[in-house]
Amino acid sequence: MSDPRPIGVFDSGIGGLTVVKALHELLPNENIFYLGDTARVPYGGKSAVTVERYSLEMTDMLADEDVKIIVIACNTASSLALPKLEKTLSVPVIGVIKPGAEAAIAVTRNRHVGVIGTRATIKSSAYERALRSFEPKINISARACPLLVPLIEEGWLDDDLTDRVIARYLTPLVAEGIDTLVLGCTHYPLLNGAIARFLGDKVKLVDSAGNCARAVEELLNRQLLRAPAENSGVLEVALTDAPDSFLRVAREALKLEIDQVQLREVLHPSPR
Ligand code: DGL
Repeated sequence: MSDPRPIGVFDSGIGGLTVVKALHELLPNENIFYLGDTARVPYGGKSAVTVERYSLEMTDMLADEDVKIIVIACNTASSLALPKLEKTLSVPVIGVIKPGAEAAIAVTRNRHVGVIGTRATIKSSAYERALRSFEPKINISARACPLLVPLIEEGWLDDDLTDRVIARYLTPLVAEGIDTLVLGCTHYPLLNGAIARFLGDKVKLVDSAGNCARAVEELLNRQLLRAPAENSGVLEVALTDAPDSFLRVAREALKLEIDQVQLREVLHPSPR
């Protein structure tokens, strides 16, 4: 049995492409439909009610594309909207928090993990809950880094100003003694190089992309939803506003060639 329908992936902007890249590497025969809410990025400073509403609107739009599962490739939306999405959507949904927490637990040696993310993600304590569900006594230092997403959306990945912002955010976490840092925002792997340069080799970086892709593989296998083996996976990208630096960052930083971007108007479903 096989299922050629695409995997639906959503994020507020470009960040979810880091998950798309991991998915494409692990599951090259799967078609992927990516939806980025560029009209309303960033989500990270918005209230829980707003992020939940946006997430419902985006996932409804993905459901209209006849996707077989939905990956919430956004930590902010996963932190604040996953329970509601799991209840309301008729296809299986996977978020990025649990895979990221699992990766950190596997890597830390001194049992002291740092977590960085948007304000909304850090305020939700979703990572603390997920990390403690694996290891109740884990020591956690968490910090919101609200300036990073705008710098990444702007494509300032290799830039003095970005380096200074990173140093300002991460210095306290290093001083507290973390040995592992969770990039708790799918945008942040685009700054992997800059963050690793600042941290040196004493602190290991983890993100959810690889583990999330493995969770998707497992789910597709379990539910007999894998694409035909001979299929060569196609990536379709739709955004809610003009691409701007999206294509350049995708090409230069992620080596993802996207020929065409479709524009979609946000659909506002009736309240649930
Ligand atoms: N990439 C997202 C995340 O993982 C959202 C960033 C934002 O829109 O603020 O949290």
